[in-house]
Amino acid sequence: MNFLVETVQVLLLSIWYNVKSFVHLFVPIKKKNISGEVVLITGAGSGIGRLMAQEFAALDTVLVLWDINQDGMKETARLAKQSGARKVYCYLCDCSDKNEVYRVADEVKREAGDVSILVNNAGIVTGKKFMDAPDSLIEKTLEVNTMAHFWTYKAFLPAMIANNHGHLVSIASSAGLIGVNGLADYCASKFAAVGFAESVGLELLATGKDGVKTTIVCPYFINTGMFDGCQTKWPTLLPILDPHYVAKKIINAVLTDQVYLLLPKSMYFIAALKNILPMEQGIALGQYLGAFSLMDTFRGHSRKKS
Ligand SMILES: NC(=O)c1ccc[n+]([C@@H]2O[C@H](COP(=O)([O-])OP(=O)(O)OC[C@H]3O[C@@H](n4cnc5c(N)ncnc54)[C@H](O)[C@@H]3O)[C@@H](O)[C@H]2O)c1
Repeated sequence: MNFLVETVQVLLLSIWYNVKSFVHLFVPIKKKNISGEVVLITGAGSGIGRLMAQEFAALDTVLVLWDINQDGMKETARLAKQSGARKVYCYLCDCSDKNEVYRVADEVKREAGDVSILVNNAGIVTGKKFMDAPDSLIEKTLEVNTMAHFWTYKAFLPAMIANNHGHLVSIASSAGLIGVNGLADYCASKFAAVGFAESVGLELLATGKDGVKTTIVCPYFINTGMFDGCQTKWPTLLPILDPHYVAKKIINAVLTDQVYLLLPKSMYFIAALKNILPMEQGIALGQYLGAFSLMDTFRGHSRKKS
């Protein structure tokens, strides 16, 4: 094809996709039915992992829960059963350990069957300035927040590809789109998680496996305890998010095959600005939004988890 034909083609397609997006502002996208699907959630023992488990349970799915916190996971299983899960399987699994992921994944395949919705949710934060963070914690952050995604994809993606059916959900962070003072290791791990999920998603598309969907979730602070102590400067613009709201938005994104979910909505605007503003203006905006002092009052998990 020549340049002119391809250019006209891409312009027409662009108009069509924009019209479609505009229409969907008023007409909701049809939600897919995931009844009977096997949903695996890492880090399901607390926070949004637990809440997503309850939401998926209400959609008549089979749940596979992974965590290193046995008590928390048991409580999630109880709540998921109460919410209507078809079946719930629990596995103690440290997803930062590649061999453990592969071993437990084999158990899952034998006992629960092929996973068709994989939610990489487990996450940790050091909360220290880069030079104060011990090497071991930096490594652990990258292993849990990023490398675990590689190993779970390796374990569960082949069946999704074979069936050309499935959904990969990456719980990243807005810290995976914009660097934050005092969060270097966490930001690096989340940027990597975003890049990984985005690239594999494109690889699947390029190889014709368009039945395997990807959703990448980038929320600002959520009130789960992980970032306890952190404060937001302008709550109207950047509110600390309610975990129930976040879980519902994630499930909705999965049901409508939404690729990027940024929360709150203002984050779409802020992320776009970061890439187009002159550097000094970007820094001034960051200061205005309180981005430079976000971590100054960080305490992290202080409440007892179960
Ligand atoms: N809370 C926030 O403000 C916020 C904001 C943006 C993104 N996120 C991301 O959302 C996800 C869920 O966080 P949350 O707020 O629910 O925190 P949380 O601490 O309540 O939940 C994290 C869960 O992961 C589990 N986990 C930790 N290490 C693990 C490992 N090696 N193997 C298996 N499980 C492990 C923990 O036991 C815990 O149950 C994380 O990936 C986090 O980075 C959180």
